[in-house]
Amino acid sequence: MILKIIVLFGILAVVTARRSYQGYKVYEVHQNTREQADFLHEMEQSNENLDFWHLAKQLNGKAQVLVPPTEQRSFVADLMRQGFQFSVMIPDIENTIDDYSVPPASRKPVPVSKQILHNYLRYLDINEYIDELATKFPASVSVNQIGTSYEGRPLKTITINGNRNNSSVIFMDAGIHAREWIAPATALYVINQLVEHAHENTDILSNLTWVILPVVNPDGYEYSHEMERFWRKTRKPAGKCVGTDANRNFDFHWGEIGASSSACSDTYRGDAPFSEPESQAIRNALTKLKGQCKFYLSLHSYGNYLLYPWGYTSDLPDTWQDIDEVAQTGAAAIKRATGAEYTVGSSTNVLYAASGGSDDWAFAEADVPIAIVMELPGGGFGGFNPPASAIEKSVKESWLGIKAMALKVAQKY
Ligand code: ARG
Ligand code: ZN
Repeated sequence: MILKIIVLFGILAVVTARRSYQGYKVYEVHQNTREQADFLHEMEQSNENLDFWHLAKQLNGKAQVLVPPTEQRSFVADLMRQGFQFSVMIPDIENTIDDYSVPPASRKPVPVSKQILHNYLRYLDINEYIDELATKFPASVSVNQIGTSYEGRPLKTITINGNRNNSSVIFMDAGIHAREWIAPATALYVINQLVEHAHENTDILSNLTWVILPVVNPDGYEYSHEMERFWRKTRKPAGKCVGTDANRNFDFHWGEIGASSSACSDTYRGDAPFSEPESQAIRNALTKLKGQCKFYLSLHSYGNYLLYPWGYTSDLPDTWQDIDEVAQTGAAAIKRATGAEYTVGSSTNVLYAASGGSDDWAFAEADVPIAIVMELPGGGFGGFNPPASAIEKSVKESWLGIKAMALKVAQKY
């Protein structure tokens, strides 16, 4: 009997074991010369075991790289050979992952709305919250399913104040990249403010309809909660690996640059444009809103950037100044409130070139005049996993920037 139990636990442990990041280090690498910048770029392209959390564009910037124990010796040797200045930013990332598997809050007595500022809510709780709002505020709120994830999870948008015909629409999404947990958390806070504090936000509600998709990639999001904290992609099998980078999967200059054709890469573009149900859902929703949607805002983390097209070329669109004006307004509002600084510019020029992104597609193909990617703060010790205790400060700050951008859009259109 005891043996049976032990065997059973053994099997369960194998089946459900999450990936340990024990001994994984995050290095911060200064790039001081063009040669060094090119070397890091080449490293990122050629070694799939190195996870470049951040790759700096400007010289004198710093890259941040998650390196597994097996790679550390050769990684460090390479850096030394090239004369890099570098340091260990996080000595053992496993120790920083505190709340991996907070079970869905709905099984706990605390209402979901009370947890938005203090926990990273799971997919089911997030949907429960928006469904609840639709029931409570039927005149101003509705929930629609715009697609289904690969593993069968409904992709639900919440529409706020959508009862006015022909009003301009803001479409906001979050969590296209699974590990960027602060993005869905921010979307939830925005939803909370727009619905439960509507009277404080009449300026951005009176002539705007908000459509918000709080978790674009729920399969990846749940997987990052339960199995691999730093999972980025969707979860559809691809060759001998799993997942596509949904933000390389949109059909605009698909696969041209900064997107991998290798299924095991973290920036895998997919086997065809719109091969993923998650990117299809955004395409379909934005296509329906063509002409009406004036602002597409996609929440990511991290690094404090407000990015706009193009992501596929260093050229700027003719109307870049309109987008720049909105983004600068957001950056200024945040700076004024907390002193936090955002870098504003086209994603190719201030970050790196990467084609097949949702922002480029929304701008070019869905005719959305203002398309922005907001890279939220890292928080805590930096990176993709700000502790839950950092949520409140982060989302409140970001909300001010989002609100200022929305107001600007409302004035312009
Ligand atoms: N960090 C984001 C990504 O890699 C930035 C996306 C910017 N937009 C773009 N079209 N490249 O997906
Ligand atoms: Zn991202």
